[in-house]
Amino acid sequence: MPPLIDSTLPHKPVHFSSTTITELMIPSYANFGGKIHGGILLSLMDKVAYVCAAKHAGNYCVTASIDTVNFLQPVEVGELVSLMASVNYVGKTSLVVGIRVISENVKANVVKHTNTSYFTMVAKDENNQPVEVPALLLETHEQVRRFEEARRRKLEKQMHQAQAKSIKAGFDLEYCRKNLDGERCVISLKD
Ligand SMILES: CC(C)(COP(=O)(O)OP(=O)(O)OC[C@H]1O[C@@H](n2cnc3c(N)ncnc32)[C@H](O)[C@@H]1OP(=O)(O)O)[C@@H](O)C(=O)NCCC(=O)NCCS
Repeated sequence: MPPLIDSTLPHKPVHFSSTTITELMIPSYANFGGKIHGGILLSLMDKVAYVCAAKHAGNYCVTASIDTVNFLQPVEVGELVSLMASVNYVGKTSLVVGIRVISENVKANVVKHTNTSYFTMVAKDENNQPVEVPALLLETHEQVRRFEEARRRKLEKQMHQAQAKSIKAGFDLEYCRKNLDGERCVISLKD
């Protein structure tokens, strides 16, 4: 249990909102192949991201975006899935929650890392408007590294979005035809 912290402070340490959820994977979570549905894991990740973000923000939060979900290994019925979430980065009204997911077979004493993802959450006020969140107190080298990595990911995403916008605005069929040569598609336009 972390020590009690005055939640009205202008900044909060990472441990104030760090959250772990552990859930047993029951048969109704499985797909036709007998493995756990990716959607079940996504739902649990969204849940832990919300808890972590809302604790830091001291407000209701919504999920704005999710960065990269790679399912590294399948999860089996009967395993215990633990989701460890902490605030990695804080903007003005948004914050990034990093989530590490592991799955444990307690009988075989095997622990698998199944995925790591980053959820951007936005704090909302009672009028459903984005509201400022407290700054993040960084107390370890790892926390500083995570903050900087998240800041860079945010900048790269903004650059990528600007590029995508300019490609859309300057769509050139002949350029695409050349670029798509060798790809597994057939261009047969009907418009
Ligand atoms: C996400 C949302 C709050 C953004 O609202 P907005 O009025 O566009 O707000 P702003 O443009 O002022 O952005 C607010 C913050 O969100 C961030 N943000 C907005 N869209 C984002 C996105 N797609 N990815 C990451 N961050 C995003 C902005 O960078 C900004 O951060 P900052 O204040 O730390 O600089 C709004 O679009 C929303 O409520 N979406 C629905 C969310 C929801 O229902 N989620 C559940 C999933 S179904």
